[in-house]
Amino acid sequence: MSTSSLSPSLFGKRVLLGISAGIAAYKSAHLARLLKKAGAEVRVVMTEGAQAFITPLTLQALTGEPVRTSLLDPEAEAGMGHIELAKWADIILIAPATADLMARLAHGHADDLLTTLCLATEARCLMAPAMNQAMWRHPATLANAERLETLDWTLLGPDAGDQACGDIGPGRMLEPETILGRLSASLDAGVPLLTDRDATARQLAGLRVVITAGPTREALDPVRYLSNHSSGKMGYALAAACVARGAEVTLVSGPVTLDTPPGVTRVDVLSATEMLAAVEAQQPCDLFIGCAAVADYRAAEIAEHKLKKGDGDDGLSLTLVRNPDIVATIAARADRPFTVGFAAETRELENHAGDKLARKRLDLIVANDVSDRDIGFGSDDNAATLLWQEDRDIRRLALSRQPKPALAGAILDHIATRLP
Ligand code: PMT
Repeated sequence: MSTSSLSPSLFGKRVLLGISAGIAAYKSAHLARLLKKAGAEVRVVMTEGAQAFITPLTLQALTGEPVRTSLLDPEAEAGMGHIELAKWADIILIAPATADLMARLAHGHADDLLTTLCLATEARCLMAPAMNQAMWRHPATLANAERLETLDWTLLGPDAGDQACGDIGPGRMLEPETILGRLSASLDAGVPLLTDRDATARQLAGLRVVITAGPTREALDPVRYLSNHSSGKMGYALAAACVARGAEVTLVSGPVTLDTPPGVTRVDVLSATEMLAAVEAQQPCDLFIGCAAVADYRAAEIAEHKLKKGDGDDGLSLTLVRNPDIVATIAARADRPFTVGFAAETRELENHAGDKLARKRLDLIVANDVSDRDIGFGSDDNAATLLWQEDRDIRRLALSRQPKPALAGAILDHIATRLP
């Protein structure tokens, strides 16, 4: 063992490494080695399912200690009973922690050796969640994660990126080196371990973000206008989620009835040309998200006085002219920020969104189906498919229906992985 790898905080510490049933379990062998190299005493407890991914013998060879797998093992209990083992540990570190294990621990179950130990211990408890991105984003898992934190568990990660199942998103177990680094750095400094919430709070720290939200209003005369059904909920949720991630946020908002999220600077506008001017006044910035439903056309001339029904007139013809395209204008700047657009589609969602991604030269587009009244315009929920170009391919990530604030968080989690 090289002395340089010893960690003052982990040296001599008794670490109980719990392993549950995830594909990331293969990384736990390396984590056990790193813990040993750092000078910790390591004992391993595996759930029944974990043994389908990695054998107890591998962990036994790496730690030099018998691996415990069962609560009802008379022989093992005769050596060190489970309550003794719970008292032995200074730190319980579960990596990977599956959604099921998180649920059982969040609700105080003690139906196998690992959950029983966690209930019986006074050790510092940490876990590195690992699961499919949709499972991690499920409100039940997120609620369990929050509950575990209130029960003094520290969550390390998860990381976001490519997953073994082919999906992309949050849910990957942190790399063993990162887990060890976070654990020992925080123990060395005597500060609380970095929780996932802390990591989220820093995701966009120091970045200037500009977001458009709501509809635009294109006046026809002093009392009439062209507009659409955007409520601003999606854009306001994004603004709040950016502030929660540490960004400085300016929200350029069309006319809506929402309160400004705390910490957000709001600039009110009415028309598309006003919105463009307000967005341009905020440049340069680091991230621009065009979530507003901007009217594509405006009246060629705004009547000075209220339009009157003409005598004998059967109808009224209006001449409309194109509005400037705000996201495309920002994406075309020499000092362009990372530029994200939305695509509001009623058919061929991904085809049309893919066209807009290319035509407007965006870094990412959030496609949503506005033909469904339960999502999109005005609703509390939304669902989206993120599209972006990578290595000449168009990549996609589907985000299931969820409340707009949760979806905003999921969109930003992904954007954060793509920022330069
Ligand atoms: O506000 P909510 O009620 O919560 O509803 C949310 C939403 C449905 C409005 C939102 O999720 C959404 O889809 N926003 C984009 C609406 C839209 O105008 O989509 P589009 O496909 O027509 O435009 C594509 C992109 O170009 C958008 O980023 C849009 O902001 C931008 N654009 C469009 C026209 C224009 N003149 N300038 C632009 O910048």
